[in-house]
Amino acid sequence: MSKTIPLFQKFPHEHLYGIGTKLNLRPCSPGSLPVRAEIVDRYGVGLQRRSQVVRLRIITDIDKSGFSPDSFVIAKFYDPLYVLEYERQNESVCLASEKAEKTAYEILRDFQGTDIPKFFGEYVWDRSISQYSSIKVILLEFVEGPSLSECYHYSKLTANELKELKTQVIDVICRIHQRNIYHRDINSSNILLRDGRPVIVDFGIASNPKDINQKNRDELTDELDIDSTFPSLESMQ
Ligand SMILES: Nc1ncnc2c1ncn2[C@@H]1O[C@H](COP(=O)(O)OP(=O)(O)O)[C@@H](O)[C@H]1O
Ligand SMILES: [Mg+2]
Repeated sequence: MSKTIPLFQKFPHEHLYGIGTKLNLRPCSPGSLPVRAEIVDRYGVGLQRRSQVVRLRIITDIDKSGFSPDSFVIAKFYDPLYVLEYERQNESVCLASEKAEKTAYEILRDFQGTDIPKFFGEYVWDRSISQYSSIKVILLEFVEGPSLSECYHYSKLTANELKELKTQVIDVICRIHQRNIYHRDINSSNILLRDGRPVIVDFGIASNPKDINQKNRDELTDELDIDSTFPSLESMQ
């Protein structure tokens, strides 16, 4: 069995994303305003660290950033330092990109706010360390509610609720496919439940028509492993 390496030892730059860190985000698109915010929570501290996901509290005035002061947003950082760390440790290649994520959110504009979070734009965090000092970050609406995997963990769902959710998720995925977007990473951590309705997150490895070649077209057909995403309640006991 492999030994668990403490996070700080594994990623020496972990402290850059510490709770309480204040950061200035520079917008990539001309019309947007800079944002000053503070890290209040971290998410997705899992094995597959393709990006850094944190919750931010906005600390600028509304007229300086466009966001209400003290409101929360999700920030997803695509930090090259983590990609390098993966390569150094010979771990799996990092496929996720902010470009894939941004493209998917733009194509799925009218799904935003209901089936997927609102996309607030692409920003840059200018960090004053090393040559990897400009980190791409996307800002998303903070979806309040547990993930499907948390619901499983705390046994929060009834068989009927699970059945209903499964139908809703299949419906959203089919509608997303009609726009030629293939999520490719549907699993219970990437499905959040807001007021009982599913919200799909994590389009970091999503494909769109421009980059679908024959090879990943074959992989796409299998994207929704419905049985592992929606195990029967009996199998969880
Ligand atoms: N918009 C959001 N609102 C609330 N929580 C989110 C949001 N986006 C992501 N998360 C949380 O952060 C976790 C990691 O985000 P995700 O985009 O899936 O990145 P990763 O590539 O690390 O899996 C998700 O499983 C979810 O719990
Ligand atoms: Mg995820």
